[in-house]
Amino acid sequence: MSEEVVIAGDHSSPELKRRLSRYLEQRGYQVDDLGVYNSDSVNYAEFAEKACLKYLEGGYAFGVLVCGTGIGISISANKVRGIRCALPQNVFAAGMTKKHNDANFIAFGARIEYSESPEEILGAYLDAAFEGGRHAIRVEYMMGLEQLKPN
Ligand code: RB5
Repeated sequence: MSEEVVIAGDHSSPELKRRLSRYLEQRGYQVDDLGVYNSDSVNYAEFAEKACLKYLEGGYAFGVLVCGTGIGISISANKVRGIRCALPQNVFAAGMTKKHNDANFIAFGARIEYSESPEEILGAYLDAAFEGGRHAIRVEYMMGLEQLKPN
């Protein structure tokens, strides 16, 4: 059975979202596209919320998010407990975020000019594996920050 990926984005995202979905399907993933599908203005935070909640229901390998810069939607996703959303600049960072941060979401900017293609960047994330060990301790500490309460 193929692994499932959840994908979502705001009004800037449809074209890049389609490209990334096609790439994921070529790589054997099943893609659950939560929208949007046109350029009517929406709030990227709502689409981060939809995708993260869907992912947290279980059964998804990871999630992909797209907004104009990738910044608003990744910040929003990282507000949701259990989500580690990376916004890699390039292939190197995409591989590293799986290896060291065990990122369960990857975000892209539809209006960003990447020096490598978004497909190559996503591919580097897919091809990498979490290294565990000292990185597991750091990720565990990072996730503990979700419980932080001001004095
Ligand atoms: C929407 O115009 C834009 O703000 C959004 O796509 C994103 O870039 C936010 O971070």
